[in-house]
This record gives sequence, structure tokens and C-alpha cells, in this order.
Amino acid sequence: MKFTESVIRDMTRVCLKHQGVNLAQGFPDFPAPAEIKEAAIQAIRSDFNQYAITWGTPSLRQAIADKFSWYNGVTVDPDTEITVCCGSTEAMIASLMAIVNPGEEVIVFEPFYENYGPDTILCGSQPRFITLHEPDWHFDGKELTDAFNNKTKAIVLNTPNNPTGKVFSREELQFIADLCLKWGVVAVTDEIYEHILYDGAEHISIASLPGMRDQTITINSISKTYSLTGWRVGWAIAPAHLTASIRKVHDFLTVGAPHPLQEAAAAALQIDRNYYQTLAKAYQERRDFLLRAVEEAGFLAYCPKGAYYIMTDVGHFGFSDDVTFAFYLVEKVGVATVPGSSFYSVPSRGGTKIRFCFPKRMETLRQASERLKKLKTEPVRK
Ligand SMILES: Cc1ncc(COP(=O)(O)O)c(C=O)c1O
Repeated sequence: MKFTESVIRDMTRVCLKHQGVNLAQGFPDFPAPAEIKEAAIQAIRSDFNQYAITWGTPSLRQAIADKFSWYNGVTVDPDTEITVCCGSTEAMIASLMAIVNPGEEVIVFEPFYENYGPDTILCGSQPRFITLHEPDWHFDGKELTDAFNNKTKAIVLNTPNNPTGKVFSREELQFIADLCLKWGVVAVTDEIYEHILYDGAEHISIASLPGMRDQTITINSISKTYSLTGWRVGWAIAPAHLTASIRKVHDFLTVGAPHPLQEAAAAALQIDRNYYQTLAKAYQERRDFLLRAVEEAGFLAYCPKGAYYIMTDVGHFGFSDDVTFAFYLVEKVGVATVPGSSFYSVPSRGGTKIRFCFPKRMETLRQASERLKKLKTEPVRK
């Protein structure tokens, strides 16, 4: 096996053992919206309890198409261009397996959400990593241009980005789109944080740029927008010829996502549109609070423009590496984080970084903040 167990999910288990505050794995510790939960209960009562159509129940595919039109500005056919999967996790691996042949190359921006590494390995491809440079996490245009070649099949994008909080600008996306169009490369874009934006940042879907609709797979889910990470409902939106392949892989991977939860997801996507502003505002408050807390505790923090993570540099604390420091934080300080190396192809590249997440109640964040103060008041024992 060429990859290890998920470090992020392992940190959650270590955190439970030490009764730490879990700012490692990105899931909310507050309730999901009541009306969506009610829709799920109703769906079970109404007996949506058998397999749905493999590629998704019609009501959800219609709701996805409607929302993609009003929020992302792209019109799609729910009958031929949408595949509902078990979370965006399955949507990503099903998409890559559907379009990438062994030996072909996939471009991935680094640091990256840790699943993308194993995803590229599982589809037999050769990943090519392009560095996002701090503090603003920009990429070098020449480096990206040089990465495209005849073997390149896909480029994986994630905006707003985990772990950096980067929101790709229109200019950056146009630069990427031009390369995709030139080389016939598919953009596979994970946009699950599309509503979690700060300081007036704007989310742009690469599928909405001229010419890209037919060369993009847009991946999304209900996990982050509606605080429903445990329901495992996500989807891939792609032109019909790509969707046909994605549906075949999806069918044999999982058959389908849970039927009653798909029905409830359709209700979620039709929630009052004010919900999204309220969500972004609540996250802005949490981001501002945690950013201040980690800076006061001595971390060098990169202010996120979107998503719900703060990437930090901790080299000056003097630990041998990020994993040692993350274990110190959970065992001695009582706060679980994710070591930066899990977001890099070469672990040492993330060797001085630590990621915090903040989809948590303010109370939880206050508790974490109190504990982090120990780093200032008690001598750090390496
Ligand atoms: C960028 C990114 N994509 C996908 C996922 C997983 O999403 P899902 O619950 O829809 O499978 C996460 C979870 O943290 C994520 O950060």
C-alpha cells in the first residue's frame, strides 16, 4: 500500500483519548438546521427507504441543477449531467477513476486536502504537485504552465481551499482555464466551501468561465454548507459524456447514497437564501476569534479568506517536526490540530506547519483559546 491511514481522522481518535478540544477534523459540533433534519425524518416516514436511482433521486438532482444555476451561474441537465455520490469524497474518487487512465498525469496544488494524494494513486495516475506559496498561497504561472503536457489528464482544484483558506481569484482561474483549454485537460474542482467566505471574498466556479463548462467536473456536498458531514451526500456535475463514465464507476463503488437523506438534501438546497449569509457571518465571527487566539498564543497564522481552517507556522517553537508538536499540543495543552505534513507530498515541506479548524461553537473555541494560553504562561517542554 502506497499511502497511510488518514492523519486527520487519527488525530480525532488521539483527541478523544486525551479529552482534548478537537480542532483537528473539520466537522461542526453544533446542530444542523432543524428543518433539514425534519425533512429527513419525513422522508423515512414516507418510505424513501429503498435504493434510489443509482445516480441520484430526481428531486435532489433537480435541486442541484437549480442551485448551480442561481449560485454558480451554470445551467446543467439534471438527467444527464449530475451524479449523486456518498459525499464529495466519493464524487472525487469516482470522477478521477472515470477519466484518468493509469500512467496519465494529474496536477494537484500543494498543500492539498489529504484525500487527493491517495485518490491519484488509486486511479493509477502520476500526480504532479504545484506549490501554493505563502503568505497569500499564490502559484507560479511558469511552474504551472511547465507542468502541462501530453500526458496531463486532469487538474484538481479546491476553492475555497483546505488547508490554506485561499480563494482562487478570477484571474488565477482564467489562467488555469486557458491551460486546460489549450491541452484538453479536465478541471476537477472541489467547491464544498463555496459559501464560507470572509472579508467580501467572491466564489467563482471555473465551470462558469468561457469554454470550461464542457471540460469541468464540479464536486460538492451538503457536508459543510448545511453542517451534515455524517449524512454522506455529495455530487459531481459534469458534461454528459463524462457523467456517463462517472455514473458507471459510482454504481460499482457504492450503488448509491442513502435515499432518505438525498430527499432531505433536496430540501436543504432549497432553504431560504438568507441562510447562506447567516452561515458566512457566523463563520467570520469564529475565524476572527480563533485567528486572534492563535496569534496571541504565539503562532504565525495565515489569515484564511474562505473555508474553515487556519494554517499556521510553528517553526519558532523549536520542535523537531510538526507531528511532535501536534502531539505535544493534544497531550500537554489539550488541543487537537493537524500536523502540516499531512497536506504535502513530501512531509518535510509541511514540517513547520499546523492546521486548526473552527467549525465549532464559540464556547468550544473559547475553551481552546484558554488552553492555548498555556503556551505563553508555562514553559514549553519539547
Ligand atoms: C476540501 C475537502 N473536500 C472534501 C471533503 C470531504 O467532504 P465530504 O464529507 O463531502 O465527503 C473535505 C472534508 O473536510 C474537504 O475539506
